Amino acid sequence: MRKIFIIVFLLLAQIAKSQNQLSIPDTLSGTSFDLTVHQDSVQFYPGSITHTYGINGNSYGGPTLIINKGDNISLNVHNNMGDTTTMHWHGLHVAPKNDGGPYSMVMSGMSWNPRFIVRNSAATYWYHPHMMAKTAEQAIKGDIGLIIVRDNAEAVLNLPRHYGVDDFPIIVQSVELNASNQFMPKGMVDSILFVNGTTSPYVSMPSQVVRMRLLNASGERTMNFGCTANKSFYVIGNDDGLLPAPVPAIRIRLSPGERAEVLVDLTGMSGQTIYLKSYASELPTGIQGGPTMVMPAGSPPMNSPLNGIDFNILQINVGAQTATPVTSVPAVLITDTAYLEGSAHTTRTINMTADSLMVMDGPFYFNDSLFNMMRVDYHIPLGNTEIWKLTNQTMVAHPFHIHDVYFYILDRDGNAPPAVERGKKDVVLVQPNETVRFITRFEDFADTTTPYMYHCHILMHEDDGMMGQFVVEKQSNGLPVVNQGNDQLILYPNPVKGLLTIQQRGTSSGHAQVHIYNMLGQCVYKTEHLDRHCQINTAGWSKGVYNLVYTNEGQRLSRNFIVN
Ligand code: C2O
Ligand code: CU
Ligand code: CU
Repeated sequence: MRKIFIIVFLLLAQIAKSQNQLSIPDTLSGTSFDLTVHQDSVQFYPGSITHTYGINGNSYGGPTLIINKGDNISLNVHNNMGDTTTMHWHGLHVAPKNDGGPYSMVMSGMSWNPRFIVRNSAATYWYHPHMMAKTAEQAIKGDIGLIIVRDNAEAVLNLPRHYGVDDFPIIVQSVELNASNQFMPKGMVDSILFVNGTTSPYVSMPSQVVRMRLLNASGERTMNFGCTANKSFYVIGNDDGLLPAPVPAIRIRLSPGERAEVLVDLTGMSGQTIYLKSYASELPTGIQGGPTMVMPAGSPPMNSPLNGIDFNILQINVGAQTATPVTSVPAVLITDTAYLEGSAHTTRTINMTADSLMVMDGPFYFNDSLFNMMRVDYHIPLGNTEIWKLTNQTMVAHPFHIHDVYFYILDRDGNAPPAVERGKKDVVLVQPNETVRFITRFEDFADTTTPYMYHCHILMHEDDGMMGQFVVEKQSNGLPVVNQGNDQLILYPNPVKGLLTIQQRGTSSGHAQVHIYNMLGQCVYKTEHLDRHCQINTAGWSKGVYNLVYTNEGQRLSRNFIVN
């Protein structure tokens, strides 16, 4: 009798976990792209609907943008989210004003129209919001999508590239829903897996060589991808380009923000079922996704049932071959030469720190400082080649990401990186006590007014302030460099709720003009005053970042401040 109960229970459990066909995001291609982000909802589970953000016709997530290197493209992002947002093109090498960082706010109901030339190499990139303190919430609720860059070097290779047929977008997220099925963006009991926004997904793939574009878009969880029965595959590319040659592997570890393109040879497997899994039991404690860390009393729970176990991500049903199958893996891919260590002009040292070694849930810092919009951490000369040396002094692994550039990993604790990490990258996971050095070059986009970001891609760490900013500066244009760090002009308190005090400490007279711009560049306030000390009432202003320009006797000083 008891046996029958158990069998019935197991059957019911199976039915409750019934499989859903993997959604393949639609594609947009050409040179002009419209993305409308809107509030939506999805019935993921019985009971309450889940509130989401969708883009264009999708109720969760957005279309895949297919763009060509060299094209001059225009993106029109329309914000129907009912909240301020930004849109960042993760991995794309674009000017700061097109990058969609926290300074490029798009107010609710407004549009943003960056235009730029695609300079990146063929690889898989993605887009997501970058709103101060809200990136986790907005991204996890669905405001994300994939970007595929194509170029001539990739086009001549015999690789699968029929989107959704033999070339699959695989956006993996682990999320937490509360009892009423709503997203918990900072929750660390993320027991629900999404692939392209589909829960418990299955997909059919043809029995030939297929390509998977893996993106870990999770808020915090690192995935240790592999296939059932340790079936081997080939890693052909990572964050920002193809590798010189395919690298055979049985695992590819991707932390939040990282991508990899892999080829899996399913030839002769028609009728079989395999699983794409995360072999998280092989991850060490300290990498989120590995065994649950012992938390100090009073900390929020992190005991996700997915921690430290091997779990299925995607069921793959192998079917018939297509008419024009790729049946072999190319021996070589592209030529790519890393920057030489000897060409570096400087080394910057960034330590990942926390208040104590007991801290598991943040806040985490770079060099003991939280992100500060008023502080530019690095002024980088245009054209500089630099080594960045990252040392993790915390007990938690952090995926470090930098905007604007790609980099090559020089070493991990002095050892050359594994072959799959040798190409162009823009995210690198730094484990507790580890030192990673990478080399990069800051080309093309000098702009002293809009900084680029670097941050931890664990979204709650980023939102809590594990972020810094840099500007790239032209050195020889003869113009003085605007130094955001000087103290001639002081605004306080900052952030401000009501009265903002402006104090000018220079030697010039107090007669000045003050203009305040919102982040759309619209002048929202203007005054003239005769004192070195004045106050502006910001009560009733919409929350956000403003830019104040103070002009007197031919000098212009500019500061950002936040109203909240
Ligand atoms: Cu994927 Cu600064 O971001
Ligand atoms: Cu980015
Ligand atoms: Cu972190």
